Amino acid sequence: MHTLEDVDKHKLPQHVAVIMDGNGRWAKQRGKLRVFGHENGVEAVRRTVENCAKLQISYLTLYAFSTENWNRPKVEVETLMKLLVASLRKELKTLHKNNIRLNTIGNIESLPSKAQKELTEVITKTANNSGMTLTLALSYGSREEIKSAVKDIAFKVKNNIISPENIDEAVINTHLYTHFLPDVDLLIRTSGEQRISNFLLWQIAYAELYFIDVFWPDFSEHHLVEAILSYQNRERRFGKTSEQLN
Ligand code: IPE
Ligand code: IPE
Ligand code: MG
Repeated sequence: MHTLEDVDKHKLPQHVAVIMDGNGRWAKQRGKLRVFGHENGVEAVRRTVENCAKLQISYLTLYAFSTENWNRPKVEVETLMKLLVASLRKELKTLHKNNIRLNTIGNIESLPSKAQKELTEVITKTANNSGMTLTLALSYGSREEIKSAVKDIAFKVKNNIISPENIDEAVINTHLYTHFLPDVDLLIRTSGEQRISNFLLWQIAYAELYFIDVFWPDFSEHHLVEAILSYQNRERRFGKTSEQLN
């Protein structure tokens, strides 16, 4: 079994994004309620964050709650929000210890005010940390993000702040929630599902995709290492030929 030491530090993905999926099925397998899966998912979050920080990954983005997840049963949504608040309170120390800065992407105003308050506090308190940037995608939907960028740009065009001929990819990037992040290099999804579920559609244009058949609460150091080793064994050609790269 591979460990963190097996990773080539000179070929790290700069930005790793994770679709943390399978909490509900993990719990069901054990004859428990879905909520039990979410509670156990928190431990996998802490593990993954610490391991990425140890590897000196610069950016880690975690899909924690999608715009579509609002359609889940009310009790499940409430539990997820409570878990978010409790974890933020508890993990502030871990973030500091590992020199991690917290950020969010998504429609944060739609979260309960308690969660917003806790997020603002942790974001402010970790703002000067200079190691890894940890971004939580909360009430995040890629289509909503793109829609809101289009609206902002259209408004600026209307008010003569931008002229249409100057709209390029960089302008679009600066209007996305992720304006402070580089493109995703490695996207990991747990639980065996092989879909994107409205996550970072623009930003994964050239990401390497890695799907793994374990439920999120079981995702451990060696699964993370396998994903990164797989990434390190791939040739990213960005449209060029293999010969051009060498
Ligand atoms: C991922 O696990 C957590 C969230 C989407 C919030 P799920 O809750 O989707 O678990 P499954 O996919 O139903 O097993
Ligand atoms: C994606 O998981 C969202 C998060 C991990 C937060 P879902 O479980 O909501 O995805 P679908 O609906 O099965 O595609
Ligand atoms: Mg799911």
